[in-house]
Amino acid sequence: MISQDINQAKQLLEEKELIAIPTETVYGLAGNAWEEEAIKKIFELKKRPLKNPLIVHISSLDKLDQVAYDIPQAAYQLAKRFWPGPLTLVLKKLPHISNLITAGKDTVAVRVPNHPLTLSLLNQLDFPLVAPSANPFGSISPTSSPHVEKYFKNDLPLILEGGECEKGIESTIVGFDEESRAIIYRLGSLSMEEIESCIGKVNLLNHNDQNPEAPGMLSKHYSPKTPLIVSEDMENSLLSFHDKAIGLLLFKKANKNNPNLIQEILSPTGNLSEAAKNLYAAMHRLDQKGLSLIIAEKLPNEGIGIVLNDRLARASKFE
Ligand code: TXA
Ligand code: MG
Repeated sequence: MISQDINQAKQLLEEKELIAIPTETVYGLAGNAWEEEAIKKIFELKKRPLKNPLIVHISSLDKLDQVAYDIPQAAYQLAKRFWPGPLTLVLKKLPHISNLITAGKDTVAVRVPNHPLTLSLLNQLDFPLVAPSANPFGSISPTSSPHVEKYFKNDLPLILEGGECEKGIESTIVGFDEESRAIIYRLGSLSMEEIESCIGKVNLLNHNDQNPEAPGMLSKHYSPKTPLIVSEDMENSLLSFHDKAIGLLLFKKANKNNPNLIQEILSPTGNLSEAAKNLYAAMHRLDQKGLSLIIAEKLPNEGIGIVLNDRLARASKFE
């Protein structure tokens, strides 16, 4: 059921059931972080490998010391500036945090989401919520309640209705090395520039699937079922694939030469934040059209555009 009933949400979570929650980034598949039974259900429902750890959602910075210890100064600076918001911190975990949540690692990922309904829910609970994005493992993250319903219609007693996600792209994940220097584990809604304006220069983790610091950051991710390619030369790509049923994912302008093709425009005004907000919803829609190929236009590689190109590149990987 889709509703805004926080009391029901609270009751279900206390009974170790799972619900979907809205956040400013994407919808999450939430369970009680203190209950292994609930945590296991999340992995089962998502078909997520157990080696891929979950994010713990807390109601405010005050609760951070219930989850982590030995917190670097830079982590506090970031949390004070950007929480509630699309920033996830990877910190040393306290012993009572389940190894299921952290996939056996000695660190835990934690954030305060910025959505009024979910913050109000978290404030009424006496436990944090573990919540991965509410999609089956590897597929496109949901940015509205109908997306979640499409994935998990019969398996979830409640999807909390929080409207369309304001940011539309997952949180940025920041960890720390032995010298407490910040490292970006996953690019996301909070830009690298914003992070650097707060704590100075930061490095990006070298992503490869073997990197133990970034479990589960597989190169193929965020994928529609329809094959997708990213193009820097649309006319040429259209010629190469003219025999296919093509859909276009475009930044700001429709392709006038091919008015009969299904086209999604991410931001008619050319605004990259608006494009971010619309990207997954456009991918969801194109994926429903029975196409044989989606051609996505490469976006300007600046600010959040860098993150969108990262998501498109992952969506385009063939296994
Ligand atoms: O915006 C978001 O972050 C959304 C909303 C629901 O909060 N959540 C989300 O969760 O994107 P998920 O599970 O789809 O992605 C969490 C990422 C995973 O790639 C996982 O590897 C990483 O966080 N992660 C979790 N714990 C970690 C840890 N201890 N060390 C390194 N990475 C970790
Ligand atoms: Mg995810």
